[in-house]
Amino acid sequence: MFPWDTLAEVTATARAHPDGIVDLSVGTPVDPVAPVIRAALAAAGAAPGYPTTAGTEALRTSAVAALARRYGITGLGPQAVLPSIGTKELIAWLPTLLGLGAGDTVVVPELAYPTYEVGALLAGATAVRADSLTQLGPGTPALVYLNSPSNPTGKVLGVDHLRKVVGWARERGVLVASDECYLGLGWDAEPVSILHPDVCDGDHTGLLALHSLSKTSSLAGYRAGLVAGDTAVVAELLAVRKHAGMMVPFPVQAAMVAAFDDDEHERVQRERYAHRRAALLAALQAAGFTVDHSEAGLYLWATRDEPCRQTLAWFAERGILVAPGEFYGPRGARHVRVALTAPDERIAAAVQRLG
Ligand SMILES: Cc1ncc(COP(=O)(O)O)c(C=O)c1O
Repeated sequence: MFPWDTLAEVTATARAHPDGIVDLSVGTPVDPVAPVIRAALAAAGAAPGYPTTAGTEALRTSAVAALARRYGITGLGPQAVLPSIGTKELIAWLPTLLGLGAGDTVVVPELAYPTYEVGALLAGATAVRADSLTQLGPGTPALVYLNSPSNPTGKVLGVDHLRKVVGWARERGVLVASDECYLGLGWDAEPVSILHPDVCDGDHTGLLALHSLSKTSSLAGYRAGLVAGDTAVVAELLAVRKHAGMMVPFPVQAAMVAAFDDDEHERVQRERYAHRRAALLAALQAAGFTVDHSEAGLYLWATRDEPCRQTLAWFAERGILVAPGEFYGPRGARHVRVALTAPDERIAAAVQRLG
């Protein structure tokens, strides 16, 4: 059973609210795609041919420039970036594309986006949950996932932590995949990329950063992701993806160029989330919740120190749907994840109902 199917009952309760449901359970963007991006998509609509798996020259150039401008990632050549059909696709297939299988271990965060584990399972590899290197013991994993800012907790890993992981992985020849989908959404902390020179000293060997335009540019429906980092690994991924037909549609590639070239729509989107976050955070705290981490990203990680399904029922009675922390790992059993991705009017309704 798909975990989300277990929410049917609380969803029905929340829907029964006279003023309608406020759905804060999933992180799906709600604001219309920026006109500059829609225009680029439309202008590319007549192209009849197959797109290239590697992405157009324009896309690779724009991506490299945006990663440098927005996140201070230096030293990437155009061959070090590769578009994906959203990052979920890439995460689900990365272990398989890398040729991992039985006997290989993939390390995922204690509380994690479920697709890291799905990807390990699809490859026949084993997923192990760990947040610290000391938990791992003497064995050498094939792949280690990081996710900062985290889904679901909003926790940001600092430069020191990231440097330690990079050093440890380098000593052992372990590949690190850093999921940086929320990197542009720092509130009380400044998220840093694994590819930032402060972290990797400008050496991208054994490092991959996964980026998405779903959240920062509200392009979830376009399916627009990207992997950047170790040129040799990116070349290997490109070779397999070519054979497997994992191509980003050409109009979407054109839309991605527009999104990478324009920082203004991204700033506006970020502002929207900042306002929603401030309103929801204050309302949750006033209602007696403890909000842990949540210094960045699109979620508030809240608890009343009770089993999360009880908290879910409490929200549902107020017409609000949130996600149970247990979806993300056993350590989430007493938390709920509250998404910031609802229209302003629905956020205001949630604030009023929590008051
Ligand atoms: C941590 C994390 N990684 C990856 C994704 C996938 O994003 P997309 O496939 O839309 O790029 C999500 C989406 O919610 C996410 O939360």
